Amino acid sequence: MTTTTETGPLTRASGTAHTRLEGRDKVTGAARYAGEVPFAELAHGWLVLSTIARGRIRSVESDPVLAMPGVLAVLHHGNAPRVNGDYTSGFGVADPILQVFQHDRVPHVGWPVALVVAETSEQAREAAETLVVRYDEEQHDVAFFAGRPGMYTPGGSLGAPTETEKGDLESELAGSSVVVDAEYTTPEEHHSPLEPHAAMARWDSGRLEVVDSNQGSKFVADELAKLFSLDPTSVRVRSEHVGGAFGSKATRPPAVLAAMAATVLHRPVRVVLTRRQMFSVVGYRSPTVQRIRLGADADGRLRAFDHQAECLTSTIHEFVERSAQLGRAMYDADAHHTVDRVVPLDVPTPSWMRAPGKAPGSFALESALDELAEKCGMDPIALRARNEPEVGPFSGLPFSSRNVLACFEKGAARFGWADRDPRPGLRREGRWLLGTGTAASTFPSAAAPSTAAVTAEADGTFTVRITAADVGTGARTALALIAADALEVEPARIRMKIADSDFGPAMVAGGSMGTRSWAWAITAAVRELKEQLALGGVVPPQGITARADTGEAIGALAKKERHSYGAQFAEVAVDVTSGEVRVRRMLGIFAAGRIINPLTARSQFIGGMIWGLSMALHEEAVRDPASGGHVGADLAGYHFAANADVPLIEADWVDDPDEDDPVGIKGIGEIGIVGAAAAVANAVWHATGVRHRTLPIRPDRVL
Ligand code: MOS
Repeated sequence: MTTTTETGPLTRASGTAHTRLEGRDKVTGAARYAGEVPFAELAHGWLVLSTIARGRIRSVESDPVLAMPGVLAVLHHGNAPRVNGDYTSGFGVADPILQVFQHDRVPHVGWPVALVVAETSEQAREAAETLVVRYDEEQHDVAFFAGRPGMYTPGGSLGAPTETEKGDLESELAGSSVVVDAEYTTPEEHHSPLEPHAAMARWDSGRLEVVDSNQGSKFVADELAKLFSLDPTSVRVRSEHVGGAFGSKATRPPAVLAAMAATVLHRPVRVVLTRRQMFSVVGYRSPTVQRIRLGADADGRLRAFDHQAECLTSTIHEFVERSAQLGRAMYDADAHHTVDRVVPLDVPTPSWMRAPGKAPGSFALESALDELAEKCGMDPIALRARNEPEVGPFSGLPFSSRNVLACFEKGAARFGWADRDPRPGLRREGRWLLGTGTAASTFPSAAAPSTAAVTAEADGTFTVRITAADVGTGARTALALIAADALEVEPARIRMKIADSDFGPAMVAGGSMGTRSWAWAITAAVRELKEQLALGGVVPPQGITARADTGEAIGALAKKERHSYGAQFAEVAVDVTSGEVRVRRMLGIFAAGRIINPLTARSQFIGGMIWGLSMALHEEAVRDPASGGHVGADLAGYHFAANADVPLIEADWVDDPDEDDPVGIKGIGEIGIVGAAAAVANAVWHATGVRHRTLPIRPDRVL
C-alpha cells in the first residue's frame, strides 16, 4: 500500500517554514485551553491529596465543608461512583491512580483522597484547604539507591525484552586492553508542562462529553468508556489546544474526577490541577542508577558492552524507565549485555517523560563512551566511527538508514571540532575554565495505525479530520502542509479539524510517532479522495469525503532497525570560584527523516536540547525521606533552565528521508534531548579534568 506522494513541484508546501495556523489565536488569547472553555452551569472541583506516604484513610470530615459557601459535594472513597479498574487501555495496563476514590488505602504522598465541588473554583479551593482528612499512618519507604533490597528484573514491554545478552562478558572484559567501569546517577525529574492538566465533563443527551488537555483524545475516550463501563460511542473527548505534554498527558485523574462529579451532580464540572498537584498525580521520570562497563582493544573497538540500569516504581503499578535499551541497536561488541531493574517504593507511579529511558540512558552511555575515548587516547567521534555496526547488533536486521556519522561530520565542521585540543583542564579565560564535548543521539522511528477523513468541499476548500493532538509542537500546521502537498493545492485551502475522538482512532502525540502516523493516514485518505474526484461530477453541497485506515499498510512494513540519529555538541565555561557551569553554545545535527516544517522542527529539536542542558545542570526533584513527599514541589523549588541559562543553541539536520514512509518522515519529538546532557557533562570534563557522573552538575558538586 506504500506509495510515493503525489506532489506537484509548484505546490510543495512542506519543506519550507510556515508559522502555526493557530499562532494568532494563541498569542491573542482566542485559543481556549481545557481550563478555559466556557460552559453554562459549570461547577468547579478542587482535588485534595494525601499528606501521608502510606496508610489508610480513617475519615473524611465532609460536614463542616459542605456548610461552606457554594460547596456542592465532597467526593471520596466512601461515596464516589464505582468504576471498573480491570482493563487494559491503549496506554497499557490501567494505571490505578485513575481508579480514584475506590478504597481507603494511601500508597504515596499526593494520592487523591477527595474532590470538593463548588460553584466557583475559589469556593472549592477554600473548602478543599479546610477539609480535614484523618489517616491511620504506616511506616513508609522512599529511599532509592543502587542495589537496594527489593530490586527485581521486570518483564518486557511493547515487544522489547528487559534483558539482552550475547557472548561472554567477563572474558571479553578480561581480554580488553582498555576498560571503563563507572556508575552514573540521574535524579527524579518532572515534565510539568506550562498548561496544567485540566478537564471538563458533562452529560449531553446520554453522552459523556469531556474537554480535556491530552495527547490523544480517542485513547482517553476509550479509557473513560472502560472505566465507567460505557459504550465507546457514548464518550466524546476533545482537546483542541494543549500547552505542552511531554508524556504527562495520557488519561489523567482530572478527566475521571470531572466525569464522576458530573455524574453525581448532573451538571458540568471542571477540574484543574495546581502546579504542586502535578508533582504527584501525572507521572514523572524515575531516578536512575546505571552501571556501565565497556571493554575495548587499544584501537577503540568494543569487545565488551554492559549497561545495567536501576529505577523505581510505585507499590501499585509497574512503570520501568528503560535506560539500558539505548545501546542495543546503537553499539555492537563481542559480548553485550543490557538489563533494566526496578524497585517498588511508597512513591507516585512514574511515567513516560520525553525520551523515556533514552534521556537518562544516553547521559550514562554517552558519558562512558567519552571516558573510553579518553582512555584510548582517541577522539570521541573517531571512537564512535570505529564502532559503527553494519546491521542491528541483536536483530541482525538492516538499518532503514543510519546517518549518525553524517551528523557528526556536519556538526564537527560547523562547531569547529577539528581545532579541539583533547587534553582536559587547559583552557582558561579569567576565572572560567573552558571545554567542549560531544555525544551521539538516537531515538526509535515507528508509525502506528490511524484513521483520517478528507472532504472536498463545494467551495473548493478541503477539510481534514483526524484525532491528532497538537501539544504545542506545530503538528496541526505540519499536517496541513502534508495535506496541501498531497492534494496539490495551496495550504490556505486546507482546514484542519483535530483532537476530537469522534473523528475515530488515531495514534497519540507520543513516541515521536504522532505526525508520522497521522500524515500516513491523511495521505492515504487524499489518495482515495483523488480517485473519487477523478470520477468527475460536481462536488455536492455536503462535499465528497474519503476515509483511510492505515492499519494494514503499517502492519505490512518490512522489519528493519528504524531509528533517528543525531550528534550533540556543547561548549561550557566553569567558574573556578563558584563551581557554576555556564553553557556557552550547543549544536545539534539530526538525521530524523524528512523535515516537514523547518520552523517548528527546529523548535522541537532546540526544545529537546534545552531540556538536556537543564537536565545536565539544574533539574532534580528532592524527596524527603521523613515525609515521603517532595521538598519544593513547584517551579520555584524545581530548578530548570531559564532564558538566561540558554545561550546560542542551534539545530540543523542532514537529508534523511525514510524510504518506507509515504512522506519520508521519521519523527522528531524526542531525539533533541537524547545525548544533550552527556555532551554538556563531557564538556565539563574537558574544561576541568573532572568527570561528573551524578546529575545535575550543581556548583557544590563541581567545587
Ligand atoms: Mo512521549 S514521553 O512518547 O509522550
